[in-house]
Amino acid sequence: MFDNSIQFSLNKIRGNLADFSDAFLSDESHGYIYSRNTECISWTEGFWTGMLWLAYELTGDENLKNTAHGLDETLCRRIYEKRAVDTHDLGFLYTLSCVAEYKITGNRDAKNAALEAAELLIKRFHEKGQFIQAWGSLDDKDNYRLIIDCLMNLPLLFWASEVTGDSKYDDIAKKHFHTAADCVIRDDFTTYHTFYFDPETGDKLKGVTCQGFSNDSCWARGQAWGIYGTALAYRYLREEYIIGLFNGITECFFAHLPEDGIPYWDMVFTEGDEPRDTSAAAIAVCGMLEMNRYIKNDKNRDRCVKLMKALEERYLTDEGSNGILKEAMYSKPGGSKPECNVWGDYFFLEALMRFNDPDWKIYW
Ligand code: GLY
Repeated sequence: MFDNSIQFSLNKIRGNLADFSDAFLSDESHGYIYSRNTECISWTEGFWTGMLWLAYELTGDENLKNTAHGLDETLCRRIYEKRAVDTHDLGFLYTLSCVAEYKITGNRDAKNAALEAAELLIKRFHEKGQFIQAWGSLDDKDNYRLIIDCLMNLPLLFWASEVTGDSKYDDIAKKHFHTAADCVIRDDFTTYHTFYFDPETGDKLKGVTCQGFSNDSCWARGQAWGIYGTALAYRYLREEYIIGLFNGITECFFAHLPEDGIPYWDMVFTEGDEPRDTSAAAIAVCGMLEMNRYIKNDKNRDRCVKLMKALEERYLTDEGSNGILKEAMYSKPGGSKPECNVWGDYFFLEALMRFNDPDWKIYW
């Protein structure tokens, strides 16, 4: 299934090898621009290595493996040099690079670097409020908040406990998940992007958006992080109540889709000319396929096929672009335009991998 998209994606990845074998991809309007290793400072570097590992697993091509390994080494250096690691995005960065490499090849340097990342990540946990702080320095009161995206950073901690036998990572991931589930998911299963706590007491304060339309709207990618994040939490925690959260967030996502099935950047929009976010669609598919491993749901599988067909038929890039999926949206309030996002391409390829091999051993 989706052979056309798999070949299309592999061709794009191979085409990028010449320019990006020792570099990362930065988003631009219709594809990617070069980002030197010395500029390995974003939250997104792991998506390129993740794509290379997926492409290696799909093809067995050693060149892809060697390129991914070389780039992972730069992420290893980054964690030991503590360069741009003052963020909860360590999960995104190291799960799709070093953890993936360790799972595929058993490389111990990659494993140790990922454990170092997990060690730094748990330092961002606040007892007061019981959450992992997303951004900024830990004494910054204006950043005393979590964000829904962090659900995707928790698998690094679950993995760290698995490989070390030390439950400290797992305990923090579990506490953060319970706090996040309690405050970012509204009663109607729409979600907040970020949620603030009182630094003195840890009391819950308020939900605030950063990349969505308004504080009471529902940022589409946040909702998709919620779908995949609850599926992954269920994978590790197996708590019954997570199934209800996953179902609620998923139904809400579909209730807010426009007729042609691809979400607008914020789910407050259901028609009109607002930009889409194709990356949210790809993330949601991965989340639903993950949950389907534990609780079979034919309706959700059909929805995944429909979303993937819509992406394949209407949102693959045009000739000349070095990206895979067009019309992703990073941050409309931040001034972004529709573009290729490296995470949209990663999750699209992950979804393709999941269709290609339902038993694929996930990196998360
Ligand atoms: N984690 C950042 C984003 O989804 O844009």
